[in-house]
Amino acid sequence: MQGYQSAIVEAERHNKWAVQAEALRRLAVLHHHRNEREAAHAAAHRSFEVASAAGDDVLGGEALNVVGGFELESGDLLAAAMAFQRALALGGSSPELSARLEQNLGIVANVRGDLDAALEHYQRSLQAYQAARNEPGCAIAFHNLGMISADRSRWDDADHYFEQSLAIARATGDLRLQGLCFLNHAEVHVAKQRFEQAMSGAESALAMFDQLGTLLDKADAYRVIGTVYRETGRPALAEARLKAAIELSSRTGSVLSEAEASRELALLYQVMGRNQEALVLLNTAYRLFHRIDARVELGDVSGRRARLEETYLALVRDWGQSIESSDSYTFGHCERVAEYAVQVAAMLGLDDHERTTIRVGAYLHDVGKIRVPHEILNKPGRLTPEEFDVIKMHPIWGIELLAAIEFPWDIRPIIRWHHEKQDGTGYPDRLRGDEIPVAAQIIGIVDVYDALTTTRSYRPAMTHEQALAEMRQCRPWWRAEVYDAFVRAIGTRTIAAAA
Ligand SMILES: [Fe+2]
Ligand SMILES: [Fe+2]
Repeated sequence: MQGYQSAIVEAERHNKWAVQAEALRRLAVLHHHRNEREAAHAAAHRSFEVASAAGDDVLGGEALNVVGGFELESGDLLAAAMAFQRALALGGSSPELSARLEQNLGIVANVRGDLDAALEHYQRSLQAYQAARNEPGCAIAFHNLGMISADRSRWDDADHYFEQSLAIARATGDLRLQGLCFLNHAEVHVAKQRFEQAMSGAESALAMFDQLGTLLDKADAYRVIGTVYRETGRPALAEARLKAAIELSSRTGSVLSEAEASRELALLYQVMGRNQEALVLLNTAYRLFHRIDARVELGDVSGRRARLEETYLALVRDWGQSIESSDSYTFGHCERVAEYAVQVAAMLGLDDHERTTIRVGAYLHDVGKIRVPHEILNKPGRLTPEEFDVIKMHPIWGIELLAAIEFPWDIRPIIRWHHEKQDGTGYPDRLRGDEIPVAAQIIGIVDVYDALTTTRSYRPAMTHEQALAEMRQCRPWWRAEVYDAFVRAIGTRTIAAAA
C-alpha cells in the first residue's frame, strides 16, 4: 500500500495521470482485501475521476469495473450491474476490458437466476477474449458457458464447452481449472448417465485438488463420486463418499456444497428405503439452502433451492405412496388428497407456506398405517370394532414415526388430528371446534370425500353427487368455513368417480 501511495503522489506531481489512475485502482483493491470499504470506494472513485479528467475511457472503465466488483460482493446486484454497464459504455473499445465486464455481467445475471442473459454475456465475453487473444480468459469463458449450459440441460453444448476449456487449461498448465472442468463435466456425464466417464472425470479432478490441497473442491469431487456410486447401485461406497463430502464442506464452511451433498445423500437413503433418515437430511439441506448467501456463492442458488423443494415433495410423495401399494383400494389416495386439499387451502386464501405444509401433510397423513397389520388394512368386508381400534392408532403411530424429524413445515397437527371432528366424535384426541387446526380439517374433509368416491372392498365408489349428498348429512363434522371452501373448490366441479 505504501508503494502505491507514493506512486500516486509522485505521479500527480509529474502529471502522469495514467500511472496515478492505475495506482489508485490497485490501492482500492488492496483496501477492499483489508475490508476497508470506504477507503476502497474512495480510491476507486478517485481513479475514475483522474482517468475521466485525462479523457482515458478505458482506464475510467477499469475503475468502474472495480467499483462494480465491490458492489457485487456486497450483494447489491443492481448497483453492480449499473457500474459494469457504465464501464462497458465507456471502455468497450478495449477487448480485454469488455471481456472481463461481460464476464462480470454474466455472473450478476446468473446470481439473479436469469440464465438466458448470463449465457449471452458469457458468449460476448468469450468473443472479446478471443479478439484479445487472451487464452486463459477464453478458458474461463468456456468453463462458465459449460456451467450455464449444464444448468439449462443443454448437454451437448456443455460437453463442447468443457472440452474447449480443458484443452486450454492443459496448455496453460492451470491445474485448478483442469480439475474444475473434469468435475463439472462429470456432472454432465451423470445427467446423461455416462457413469464410467463421470467416475473417471471425478477421480481425475479429485487427484488434482488433492495436489492443490483445495478442500472445498475436494468436497465437491466426493459428492460427484458418491452420486455415481449411488446411480450404479453401490450404496455402501456412495454413503461413505457423500458423508465425506458433507464433512469436508461443513469444515470449510461452504453452505451450498454442504446442502447439495446432503440432498444427494438423502436421495441415496430414499433408494435404500431409509425414508426417515432421508427426510432428516433433506430438512438439513432445506435449512442450509435458506441460509445461503447468493452473493457469496455467485451461482444459480434460487434454481438449486427450487430443485431441492422438488426433491423434498417427491420423497414425501413416494413415502406416502409406499403405504398405498400395500392397500390396493386406496391407490393414489395421497396424491388426490394433496390435490384437493391444496385447492381448498387456496380457496381459504392460505399462503404459499401453509399450502406447502398442507401438501406435505397430505402425502404423509396416513404414514402411521405402515404399522397397521396387513390383514386389517386389506381386509375384504367390514372391520370389527377391535380391528377399527387398531386403525384408529394410525395418527399416533404417524407422529411417532416422524418424531425424530424436524420439518420445515409443521405437519404434526395434520397427521395427528386429520380424523378429529368439529362435534367431538373424532379420534384420537376427541378434539372439538376450533381446537382442531384448520390444516387438519382441510385434510380431514377431502380425505372423507376421496374415501367416498373410490371403490372399497365393502361398497362401490359413490358418484361425485352422491358423495356430496352424504357429506351434507355430516356437516357438523367440519367448521363452516372449511365446509364452504370445500364445496366451492371441489363441490362445484364435475368429477368422474375414480375407478
Ligand atoms: Fe387417516
Ligand atoms: Fe387418508
